[in-house]
Amino acid sequence: MIKLSPSILAADFGHLQDEIQKTAAAGVDYIHLDIMDGHFVPNLTFGPELVKYINSETDIPLDVHLMISNPGEYLEIYAAAGADYLTIHYEAVEHPEKMLETIRSLGIKSGITVSPNTPVEVVEPYLEHADWLLIMSVHPGFAGQRFIPDSVKKVNRARQYIDGQGLKCEIAIDGGIDLKTAPRVASAGAEILITGSSFYRSGDYGEFARRIKEVTAPH
Ligand code: DX5
Ligand code: ZN
Repeated sequence: MIKLSPSILAADFGHLQDEIQKTAAAGVDYIHLDIMDGHFVPNLTFGPELVKYINSETDIPLDVHLMISNPGEYLEIYAAAGADYLTIHYEAVEHPEKMLETIRSLGIKSGITVSPNTPVEVVEPYLEHADWLLIMSVHPGFAGQRFIPDSVKKVNRARQYIDGQGLKCEIAIDGGIDLKTAPRVASAGAEILITGSSFYRSGDYGEFARRIKEVTAPH
C-alpha cells in the first residue's frame, strides 16, 4: 500500500495546531515540511522553529524537504528540530554521497531529490546512500502547481534501477499529486505520495487519505 505524506505548506496556518491534529487523525504516514530559502527557490517558507513546534504536537514522522542552498550547513539543526527524514536537492550539493551519509550519521533517514529539469539518472550512483529518492513532479517553490506528466517516466526508470540493483531506497513523489495523478505514479512504482493542495482542499482529510489509498491499491 502507498504511504501518504501531506505537505503542511498547503494547510491553514491560522489554525496550525488544529490542522496538525486533523492531519494526524487522518491516518497519514508522514508529514511533509517544505523548507524554502528564497535563494534556491523563489519563495520563502519556514525554518527549524516551526519544525520543532510541529514535532512537539505530533508523533507522526516528519519528512523535511530542504529547498535551500548549502543544505550541508543546516543538517544538524533540522535533525535536532525533529526531522525523521531529511531530503536534499541534488542541484544544491557538490558531494551528495557525503551529505547523505552525514544525514544518516545524525540517526535519521536520508533522501535525495531531483527537480523536473534534472534527469533521474544522475542520482543513480548515490541511491545506495539514500533511504528515499524523491522525484519532483512540479518545479520546486510553490504548492498548487500542475503535475508534470514526464515525471511518470522518471518514476518508472528509477523503479527499474532500484529493483535491478536490489537497493532498499524507496521512491517518493512530490507536486500536483491528487486522486487522478496518484494511480499513474503508483503503478509506475512510487511508494510515498506527497500531497499538498489536494489533501488540504479536500475538506475531509480522513476520507481523502482513505480514497487515495483505495485508488492506488494494486489490483
Ligand atoms: C513544491 C513543494 C511541494 C508542494 C506540494 O515546491 O515541494 O511539497 O508543497 O504541493 P501540491 O501537492 O499542491 O503540489
Ligand atoms: Zn516538498
